[in-house]
Amino acid sequence: MEAKEYKKITTKVLYDMKCRGEKISMLTAYDYTMARILDAARIDVLLVGDSASNVMAGHETTLPITLDQMIYHAQSVVRAVNRALVVVDMPFGTYQGNSKRALDSAIRIMKESGGHAVKLEGGSEVKESVERILSAGIPVMGHLGLIPQSIYKFGTYTVRAKEEAEARKLVEDARMLEELGVFALVLEKIPAELGKKVAESLKIPVIGIGAGPYVDGQVLVTHDMLGMTKDFNPRFLRRYLDLFTDMKNAFEQYRNDVKTGDFPNESESY
Ligand code: KIV
Repeated sequence: MEAKEYKKITTKVLYDMKCRGEKISMLTAYDYTMARILDAARIDVLLVGDSASNVMAGHETTLPITLDQMIYHAQSVVRAVNRALVVVDMPFGTYQGNSKRALDSAIRIMKESGGHAVKLEGGSEVKESVERILSAGIPVMGHLGLIPQSIYKFGTYTVRAKEEAEARKLVEDARMLEELGVFALVLEKIPAELGKKVAESLKIPVIGIGAGPYVDGQVLVTHDMLGMTKDFNPRFLRRYLDLFTDMKNAFEQYRNDVKTGDFPNESESY
């Protein structure tokens, strides 16, 4: 399917892409400079993921990142973007178990960051929060399968929904989210056949990360696909560069040049 030239990506455009069979590209962004490059490359959706907690801040999980920190990252990304749809993750503790807090958090994200939509994790457990956020006219992206904010409930980052009962609940949750009105759904680390089943049974776009090739689009963490992170090697990750090595080499070269007095030379001086 040939990509159509969209000047601006909206939730409606993503729906059109699914209808036309055009796959949706999505990557994470947490800062202005990276977001400029991603937007220039015409990535359709930039996700200000709570994976910033790991990638940018070095935490072990996504749980510690705060709403203020997510808004800061999202503001930087929004400033950079002309074309992409910017989706902002709602961090842990800002929407679970309290739909009023969920609405307040989503409104803060939209008002203070200028992002275009929010994403939150879970199915029936967060139904009321999703409903309330949607009632304010805020577009919501769902996220099922491996949901990293619940890591302490599951205890592991292994593939989800391999068992019949969990797969059934995932399908039910996906249908429920579509009926509520979410505009798209992320499925993380589930069997490819289940990803296919969900994508085929929903009208909204389904975007996978480790959910196989049959879904309507793909998302990866940008720093992982650039090879900037070394110790994260899931099967679903395709590395397009080895930036860890390239950047380390450049830093070593710079260090040498400084130590030897090679940098700066005459033409680099005033
Ligand atoms: O925070 C994140 O990066 C995400 C993706 C893994 C989908 O939620």
